[in-house]
Amino acid sequence: MNDHKRPHAKAIDVPVSDTVDSHEDILVGGDRSPNRRELRLLKELKFLARRAEGEMRPSSSAREKAKKLQLKVIDEARFLRNWAGNPLKTGAVAPSGQELSRLMAHFVEADRPGVIVELGPGTGAVTQALVERGVDEERLVLIEYSPDFCTLLRERFPKARILCGNAYALGEVMAELGNPPIASVISGLPLFTRPLPERQALLADAMRLMGPGAPFIQFSYALVPPVKRAMGYTISRTRWVLANLPPARVWLYRAVVSETASPATA
Ligand SMILES: C[S@@+](CC[C@H](N)C(=O)[O-])C[C@H]1O[C@@H](n2cnc3c(N)ncnc32)[C@H](O)[C@@H]1O
Repeated sequence: MNDHKRPHAKAIDVPVSDTVDSHEDILVGGDRSPNRRELRLLKELKFLARRAEGEMRPSSSAREKAKKLQLKVIDEARFLRNWAGNPLKTGAVAPSGQELSRLMAHFVEADRPGVIVELGPGTGAVTQALVERGVDEERLVLIEYSPDFCTLLRERFPKARILCGNAYALGEVMAELGNPPIASVISGLPLFTRPLPERQALLADAMRLMGPGAPFIQFSYALVPPVKRAMGYTISRTRWVLANLPPARVWLYRAVVSETASPATA
């Protein structure tokens, strides 16, 4: 059959740069050089083979997702181990989920001058949400009790100040840092595992160090606020984050200047 009588094969888009490098590259029998049609067919085959290979390889976003999932599983195992070793201090069997972490980070007021203090950052779920929200890592002061978590936080947030110690000694810790202004305090501490006077003292310290209006952001799994309404500050709360395990919500405390300021909504 003459070439011009044959039905045309469906044209496929072969990039101009995708040329066959040499005749040895091509599986054509005999000692003759391949003709133009054979060359074109081989180019198409080569192109299709490369494309199929590319399609079978996971895309970079799939690889990224798989990596994130792997890290999540490792963090959960780490958390569980810490919880088994010290349930009251760890206060949860798993790190906060992304929705809760983002909700917490949303309330940080980065426009205020000063550092952002995170109490009980654990494996850094909320810290990561802060960084993703655009908070400069260098502004972060992370106070964590568990040495394991401190090591991990140093690897993950090398520019943040990571203090391995007791967050309830906030006043002393900040004094050691030279009492820098504080824009917001964000806390994942399991407050209910400590006596009420200790919780109250921590909140009072944070309010005094931050000044009026700045938020103390706390999440909790409980129905009631970790520190109840009192003179000197307002309390508000968010909806429940049901996707979190266990479901949680965020409590916001703010110091007020005068006692006539808006009442708490809790
Ligand atoms: C419920 S976990 C929250 C961890 C993390 N913020 C999150 O949301 O995934 C509580 C964290 O507070 C830490 N913690 C408990 N008591 C502490 C204390 N007195 N000082 C500093 N960190 C403490 C625990 O080690 C743990 O990392």
